[in-house]
Amino acid sequence: MKRLVFLLIMVVIGINSFAESNLKRGMNMGNALEAPEEGSWGITIEPEYFKAMKDAGFDYVRVPVRWDAHTSDKAPYKIDPVFMKRVKEVVDLAYKNNLKILINVHHFDSIMYEPDKYSEKLNSMWNQISTAFKDYDNNLYFEILNEPKENMSVGKLNILYEKVIKTIRKTSTERKIALGGIFWSNFASTATTFVPKDDKNIILLFNYYNPFEFTHQGASWVDGSGDWEGTTWIGTEEEKQRITKEFDFAVEQAKLKGVDLMIGEFGAYSDADMKSRATWTDFVAREAEKRGIAWTYWEFCSSFGAYDAFSKEWRKPLLEALIK
Ligand code: BGC
Repeated sequence: MKRLVFLLIMVVIGINSFAESNLKRGMNMGNALEAPEEGSWGITIEPEYFKAMKDAGFDYVRVPVRWDAHTSDKAPYKIDPVFMKRVKEVVDLAYKNNLKILINVHHFDSIMYEPDKYSEKLNSMWNQISTAFKDYDNNLYFEILNEPKENMSVGKLNILYEKVIKTIRKTSTERKIALGGIFWSNFASTATTFVPKDDKNIILLFNYYNPFEFTHQGASWVDGSGDWEGTTWIGTEEEKQRITKEFDFAVEQAKLKGVDLMIGEFGAYSDADMKSRATWTDFVAREAEKRGIAWTYWEFCSSFGAYDAFSKEWRKPLLEALIK
């Protein structure tokens, strides 16, 4: 009987332990370190960028990193020290500007097609990354793998996450680790993503681009997206309800797992009209805030850009939609 009461108490505590993540409002520093080489997609991270983010009111930056392009393909899969140094410089720059920073493994395409073949490579990368950053405090966050997809099934992904978390925990016992689920980490994947029972320093992550026909109209990398040109988002009841329902679902999953929740990416491509982009961005950010979900806008100064790197000015409607 005592055991049963104890278990019930634990369940209740577990369900209520969804604490507001200490990440709140973030910006993706996209198209820089996740390009094949930094600069090859037109963006090189400049010190002034992180200052602009901090001054505007963001508290963290998510920096996607294409480690795979700088890591040997043979065991022990050594990461190029020059690249590691550059990532460190970027992390230090965030610290200098009092921004928390999340780094991930982005565009590791081979693992999506051949998960078994490349899982040891991912594990080795994280072993090297977490060792390199072992002396950094917990304002540095890790996200194991951006947008798992293709042949990365729930089963394979969960085994992989369990393995990599153990590797990271050898050097960083309390660092927050974000985990995104299958199918490009869509909101529904929050239900199936593995979270270790005894580790509270885990953040469940999803990316949010719904309705996709609106956010990705005209995006060159999405087949058929030309047909969606002109799609608006004006905030009808029906449009809003889709978003609130999907967020409520994700919140429920985080509560059941007793961990924090974050949106790793959300944004609307520049082909959409600015008024719709701002209305959608504002709604998504506010609904996330209401639920204690940290959000990260995709992205800083490229084709979804909230900032114009040429004029060095924020795009006002987007900034005002993001930071209230
Ligand atoms: C990808 C970007 C893409 C964005 C929106 C990101 O995860 O890395 O290349 O622009 O999603 O589709």
